[in-house]
Amino acid sequence: MYTKRLLQMAALYLITGVLLGLGMGISENHLLAPVHAHLNLLGWASMALMALIYRAFPEAGSTMLAKVHFWLHSLGLPPLMIALTVLMLGNPAAGPVVGILSIITGIGVISFCVNILRFIR
Ligand code: HEM
Ligand code: HEM
Repeated sequence: MYTKRLLQMAALYLITGVLLGLGMGISENHLLAPVHAHLNLLGWASMALMALIYRAFPEAGSTMLAKVHFWLHSLGLPPLMIALTVLMLGNPAAGPVVGILSIITGIGVISFCVNILRFIR
């Protein structure tokens, strides 16, 4: 179940990341490069890779840690990208929000890693 959802979200992140990249290229304004990088790498590349790993090791995709990872990554990353955009556009007040959402997303990613380390020996 998470395999399909992760891949679907990865594709949506790739569309968003590539559109932002094109926007940055056309406007010659690279201010939002960190947002672009993480939409593409934490959204597209990581989620697509995670989906393929669950495809290769299906038993790893049905654990509690897989669930924890899925929800923290899915619910943490979109608001993180929005808060990072607000921060990069010159609103330092968004800094703590970026920090908290980074920790939430980071715990999600670490849950995935622990899950994989437990299953693949
Ligand atoms: C048509 C697609 C894309 C366009 C037009 C595009 C455009 C750009 C532009 C204009 C920059 C800023 C360069 C700079 O400031 O020096 C950039 C940076 C970057 N892009 Fe893309 N990009 C695209 C796709 C991707 C993809 C698919 C990935 C990753 C899977 C990616 C990863 C990155 C990274 C990691 C950076 C550096 C960000 C940083 O240093 O903060 N890009 N891209
Ligand atoms: C929750 C997870 C993550 C957090 C909190 C995080 C945070 C950060 C921060 C604070 C920066 C420095 C930004 C700046 O100097 O403007 C950064 C840069 C970067 N991160 Fe991440 N990151 C995460 C995950 C990832 C992942 C999974 C990848 C790759 C698959 C990645 C790739 C990059 C790249 C390529 C840069 C730009 C380096 C550069 O241009 O100097 N990040 N990240």
